Amino acid sequence: MNYITIALAKGRLAKTTMGFLKEIGITCPEMEDKTTRRLVFTNEDLKLKFFLAKPSDVPTFVEYGAADMGVCGRDTILEENRDLYEVLDLGVGKCRMCVCGPAEAAERLRHHELIRVATKYPVIAKDYFYNKKHQTVEIIKLNGSVELAPIVGLSDVIVDIVETGSTLKENGLRVLEEICSLSAKIVVNQVSMKMENERISRLISDLRDVVREK
Ligand code: PRP
Repeated sequence: MNYITIALAKGRLAKTTMGFLKEIGITCPEMEDKTTRRLVFTNEDLKLKFFLAKPSDVPTFVEYGAADMGVCGRDTILEENRDLYEVLDLGVGKCRMCVCGPAEAAERLRHHELIRVATKYPVIAKDYFYNKKHQTVEIIKLNGSVELAPIVGLSDVIVDIVETGSTLKENGLRVLEEICSLSAKIVVNQVSMKMENERISRLISDLRDVVREK
């Protein structure tokens, strides 16, 4: 039997996913060692391998078949735009992708002025402004602490994830437009779905039952 390899987004989502898997009888004791710096873990009995990747790289590992399946946020799936199957919403990590900024920016947005948009998600921002709103904007890619951009005058607005809204509030910003809702998803490699259909489908359907009960 071949291994089924699952790419997990390092951090809280990996832990939540392992919690779901535990409920369907899938564990990986090797992963429970808090001190380990290892990235790949195996359950020989179940012929499963797990690895921890940077969240934004999960779709890449899955598209190329380095992982048969992966768990990552919809933000990453949309931004990476990879060829893969999106098979199950885990219903966790719920948040929103929004256009945010100071209150004054609302007018400029409304009048379709040429504004500057700072974001970690240039693909999502471009798709929203160009294809949905038909508005020309200048997109500036940042790698984090995006809320800084309108505060220090780098951009008029940002496109970013809003979860509780506290980061915005504490920095004098607000949601101006909502782009889409986000949550954690299971993605599957297209070839693996055919080659290992039985095992992968069973895993997904068992997980679907766990998610439904939440
Ligand atoms: C994310 C996001 C926001 C914040 C939203 O940042 O980019 O900054 O969380 O959460 P809130 O609405 O609950 O305040 P993250 O912590 O991932 O760090 P980053 O600034 O490096 O992107």
